[in-house]
Amino acid sequence: MSAVRIVVFASGRGSNLDAIVQAIRKKELPAQILAVVSDQPDAGALVKARQYDIPAISVPWSSLDQSLSVSDRRSFHEKQILEKILPLQPQFLVLAGYMRVLTGDFIDVFRSERGYSRMINIHPSLLPAFPGRNAYAQAYRYGAKVAGVTVHLVEKEVDSGPVCAQESFSIADCRTEIEVEEKGLAVEHRLFPDTLKWVLREDFSIEHRLDGRICVRSY
Ligand code: GRF
Repeated sequence: MSAVRIVVFASGRGSNLDAIVQAIRKKELPAQILAVVSDQPDAGALVKARQYDIPAISVPWSSLDQSLSVSDRRSFHEKQILEKILPLQPQFLVLAGYMRVLTGDFIDVFRSERGYSRMINIHPSLLPAFPGRNAYAQAYRYGAKVAGVTVHLVEKEVDSGPVCAQESFSIADCRTEIEVEEKGLAVEHRLFPDTLKWVLREDFSIEHRLDGRICVRSY
């Protein structure tokens, strides 16, 4: 099986990028990272990409004309990203802590003929619980006894789209938000590469349920 050509999007420190790179290096994940894209020029993920000799593409959100509407800025930003990544001919986009909302038009560029988007995201909760930012902190502050991680295909509605994999873990003993995050990241760093192994091969079918769609691995 030849390596699937991916572009990783990340806004932050890049620990999931590390986990993906390690899985590729260990030959557990047949993928090639063509570039790492970030909306944050100082993102740790870009620093890591350079250390790994992966092209690091910075498309700063903050440098856009602030007099434009958010929607216009979003379109312009995505256009700049597409100009940089389409020549690389990626087969899949992997969102690893990318903190920008993507438009339907952008997602449609990566839509397969089977109807799903070839974009995958990791979210630090058991969706649909705790969508949005700081999901581990949300779970801790709510007083939840379990937290979790969701890996899903991307759709226009934020933190939605067919669920590929989910894993829960107990936070009943956690005394701080940081402890929850540490436990969660350990799950993420295993679950994301493991899920990418079959999702990047498009080794799944999409099944319909009353409230949405799920991504079911083919065996
Ligand atoms: C992770 O918790 C991920 O689930 C969320 O953003 C965080 C990114 O962390 N979407 P990192 O940059 O991969 O370390």
